[in-house]
Parts: sequence; structure tokens; C-alpha cells
Amino acid sequence: MPKKETNIVQINATHPESDRIRQAAALIQHGDLVVFPTETVYGLGADALQSHAVEQIFAAKARPYSDPLIVHIAEESDILPLVQYIPDAAKKLMPHFWPGPLTLIFPASARVPRLVTAGLETVAIRMPAHPVAQALIRQANTPIAAPSANRFMHISPTTAQHAFTDLQNRVSLILDGGSSMVGVESTVLDICANPPVILRPGGISLEALQSVLPDVQPPRQHIPTEAEEQAQSAPGQMLVHYSPGVPTFLYEGAVSNMRSAMLTEIQRRRGQGEQVGILVHDADVDYFQHSGAAIYALGSTAEQAATKLYAGLRVLEETEVHVILCRSFPTAGIGLALQDRLRKAAGGKIISS
Ligand code: TXA
Ligand code: MG
Repeated sequence: MPKKETNIVQINATHPESDRIRQAAALIQHGDLVVFPTETVYGLGADALQSHAVEQIFAAKARPYSDPLIVHIAEESDILPLVQYIPDAAKKLMPHFWPGPLTLIFPASARVPRLVTAGLETVAIRMPAHPVAQALIRQANTPIAAPSANRFMHISPTTAQHAFTDLQNRVSLILDGGSSMVGVESTVLDICANPPVILRPGGISLEALQSVLPDVQPPRQHIPTEAEEQAQSAPGQMLVHYSPGVPTFLYEGAVSNMRSAMLTEIQRRRGQGEQVGILVHDADVDYFQHSGAAIYALGSTAEQAATKLYAGLRVLEETEVHVILCRSFPTAGIGLALQDRLRKAAGGKIISS
């Protein structure tokens, strides 16, 4: 694709300046790409109804056409042209969780380019809560298809700088609205399935969904092997790794066991001359203080850890460590999404301690 000069433009995250929104919306209407903040991660947006604009998304990310995109809307009535009908489960969930980090799978109308859905007859739709995302969609006056604004297979961006690192010269405008609050992507819920099933855990927890729809099913827990992953071809089922460019290992088990197993591994690797990065709970910092590892503390709750996870992976990647070791967090609430992303970052390299 032709090289573009990439401009990062600051925008007020709560009261976005209308001239900047107009500038970004004009690009969207023109069929160009815009990186914009959402409450989960930064998105790489294009007009969802212009196939050639959507094509640019796949080119900029080097994303395969078999991985469908989420369509972002600003208000509930925006879904009507995009779907065949609104399943009852959606009618119950939307008033509780929209706008917010919940993506619902609907039966797609003929209006939705099949490039967006990767040829599926369903379409993923979400109404982001972020004021900049809301304002951009309204001003562009069209639904915006947007995956996370990272290179394919890399870590999702939670700052404008992360998006710039991955997409420099591939997109002309990045709206910088500061750090994403949630830090992991939206929950993807298939409401065309009966009972509804979570395809990707995310910003809205299983418990919250079940409080409105008790029969919502948790995601499949199975972590595929590399061979299984390569064999997998169904669109929308791709098991993408949210992976750093550095081999990552996830430790699971009781806290004291994870700590001692990680410390032993740090010492072994440093003995071989390797630099080691670790992602830990705030309460682990003292324990590893003199270990010689580069320490990135994720906070003291799963919420905080979700917010900081992708930044932490990128910081350690840029520190040029040879390996990243991370510990697990409790899986209640958003902890389930956190654990899912940690496991994907580790690509199945899980150590039960
Ligand atoms: O928080 C988010 O959802 C962010 C922000 C930018 O909104 N977006 C995001 O998009 O994470 P992306 O493209 O990185 O992930 C979209 C996910 C993929 O796992 C994809 O397979 C799934 O949604 N998906 C999209 N359409 C689908 C469909 N029709 N059926 C099943 N899964 C679908
Ligand atoms: Mg993504």
C-alpha cells in the first residue's frame, strides 16, 4: 500500500473538539482510515458500508480476510439497516450494556459488505461508550468497521503511541484521546446461538451478562495447539494470539508457588546470560526486587491489570528482554478476559506451579 504521513492529533476525551471530529469524519466518508480511541482499545476505523474502505483496514493491518470485523454504531436505531432482525436476547441486553464493551452477533442484512463479515451471514455490532468514538460515528453518519489498531497478531493498542508504533505510514490520522480505560477488548457474545455463548471474554463480565440473561454460556476454555490452530479455517473462529514479539510464559497456581517457580526460572535464565521481564501483581514487587528481572507491576486488582496488561507487554518488549514471565490473576469478573489474553500472549506456554 502507498506510504502515508501519519499525524497524531490530540483530542479531548470527554468533550472532543468538533473541528477535529469533522476532520476525522471527512476522512471516513472519503473512504480513508482513522485510528480513534474507544474505552477498550484503540480502533482502526473505516466506513463499514464502503467495501474499498474496509479493504484498506485489512491491508494496513496485514490481516487475513478470514477474520471478520466489528461494526461500531452510535445509537440503537443504527443497527436496523445492518441486521435482518433483532433477537430477543439482544433486546434484553442492549439497554443494560450499550453503550459499552459488549459486541453482539446479529444475522446480517444484505447492506453489510461480506468483506466486513468474512463471508459470514452474521455481523458483529458494538456501540462504544467513548465520547470520541461516539462523536466520530455520528459526524461520519455511517457505521464504522474497526478492528484493534495493531498489526495483525500483535498486541492491541491502549494508547495512540502504541497504534503509531504499529501503523506508522499506513494511516493518515490517529486521534489521541489518552489511555484506554478498560484495556482489553469488548466481550463478543453470539446471540444467534441458543443459548447465547461468549466467543471472546472481554470488558463486560460473564457474571454481569448472566445477571440479565442467566443462560449465557462461558467461552470454550480449550487452548489450541499450534497444529490445531493452523487447521482451523472457519471465519470468526480464528484463535488470534495477542502476542508480544518475545516468548512469553504464563504461570498458574497458588501465589507462593507461582512466585518461587518464576524466581527459579529467572535465576536459571540469567545464569545463561538472558534478560528476563516479568509481569506481576503489585504485592509481588518486593519478592522480585533483587531478582535482576525487569519488573512491570500490573496493579492489585484484575481491573487494574486488564487496563495495564497491553502497555506492560509492550514496555517489556521494547526493553528487549529475551523472555517474559507473567503470573495469573483471579478469574472472577474481568479476570476471565485478563486470563484469556495472558494465555493467548503465552500461546499455550503455561506452567502449572
Ligand atoms: O473492543 C473491541 O472490540 C475493539 C474495539 C476497537 O472496538 N475491537 C476489536 O476488534 O477487538 P478485532 O477485530 O480485534 O476483534 C474482533 C473479534 C474477532 O475475534 C472476530 O473473530 C470477532 O470479533 N467477530 C467479528 N465478527 C464476527 C462474526 N460475525 N461472528 C463471530 N465472531 C466475529
Ligand atoms: Mg484485534
